[in-house]
Amino acid sequence: MRISRAIAGQLESSSWIRRMFESGVQLRRELGAKNVFDYSIGNPDVEPPEAVIAALRAVVAENLPRSHCYMPNAGYPEVRAILARRLAERSGIPFTADDIVMTNGAAGAINAVLKAILDPGDEVLVLSPFFPEYRFYIENHGGRMVLVETGGDFQPDPQRIVAALTPRTRALILNSPNNPTGVVYSEATLLAVNRVLPETVLVICDEPYRPLTFDGAVTPEAVRIFDRAVIAWSWSKAMAIPGERIGYLALPPHLPGIAQLRGACIMANRILGFINASAIWQWVVSAVPEATVDVAYYQEKRDLLCDALQSMGYDAPRPRGAFYVFPRTPIADDIAFIGLLQREGILAVPGTGFGRSGYMRLSLTIPREAIVRSLPGFARAIESALFPAAHSSSCLPQ
Ligand SMILES: Cc1ncc(COP(=O)(O)O)c(C=O)c1O
Repeated sequence: MRISRAIAGQLESSSWIRRMFESGVQLRRELGAKNVFDYSIGNPDVEPPEAVIAALRAVVAENLPRSHCYMPNAGYPEVRAILARRLAERSGIPFTADDIVMTNGAAGAINAVLKAILDPGDEVLVLSPFFPEYRFYIENHGGRMVLVETGGDFQPDPQRIVAALTPRTRALILNSPNNPTGVVYSEATLLAVNRVLPETVLVICDEPYRPLTFDGAVTPEAVRIFDRAVIAWSWSKAMAIPGERIGYLALPPHLPGIAQLRGACIMANRILGFINASAIWQWVVSAVPEATVDVAYYQEKRDLLCDALQSMGYDAPRPRGAFYVFPRTPIADDIAFIGLLQREGILAVPGTGFGRSGYMRLSLTIPREAIVRSLPGFARAIESALFPAAHSSSCLPQ
């Protein structure tokens, strides 16, 4: 059976992630699972907070009548009221239950709002380096992704954003704390971006990593800074429950045409096949909306890895949020360097996969002891990259 040209093309362009997965399978076979250090996947390696599991047990034990039925497509009104109140307290914007659409994680929220606003050929600005799934989300709805390079410190660059605007630009996706760079966008930069955006552009704030910040960093409240922004929120990373698929889309009540936009997003959530977000998990997250994994655990691993890499000569700045380190590769060819790491049993994703060659992404969702055991491999890889002649025949397994 023939598959669509669009999906065939998307399968081809997602090949970096697939290639890393296949390399992992192969490496585990060759070296044994214990000797493979998988930094490639952003899948939390911690259990959900005890408060989350307790809330789940309570919801199951209560098993209210009719609690497994269809519901309004936006989600349970009581749940949305609780979450709106919390968001209003945090942001200072008077959100109500009507402004919240419960979704299948941030991915569900982004897809719903894109479906609601895009006509075929409309453009969505994405800051590079970028989360590669954005391309597919945008193309799902006939849109066109337009990449805009960030500045040297990976902060948004208002002048480049202005240069990328066209009459077809409908949205700008902002992800802070950022995957893959770990950068938290500064308030001053976001204010500068707001000043250059025309009224017709909606900012989609993709915030699944908001509570995961280090050294006391606070993620600026983008929905307050921007005149026209929505939040795609998710508990996937905060509660370490990405398989449960729960999040929301928050639509500030002051947005022009809000009633129509709300209706469009709810319709999109329904017809994308989600119908509504998970019933049980709506009750769970509304019982303990702020429960968060131990951020100190990720911060400790960040410090361990970045200190070690820096002492070996890598340019590996400490991320301020999310759970990724984004060092420069010691040689400009990041794909070649990823190959050297693989020979040490280390799996990393080349920056090329995120639109920025010369870098690599290392996920901190790897166990601490695996980081420690992988360090000699990082040391040998930088040595052999910088002094290839000395290493051509000696210490690397073939
Ligand atoms: C930047 C970014 N946005 C969205 C998502 C999707 O998250 P969710 O599991 O909430 O759909 C991810 C997942 O890794 C992500 O890194």
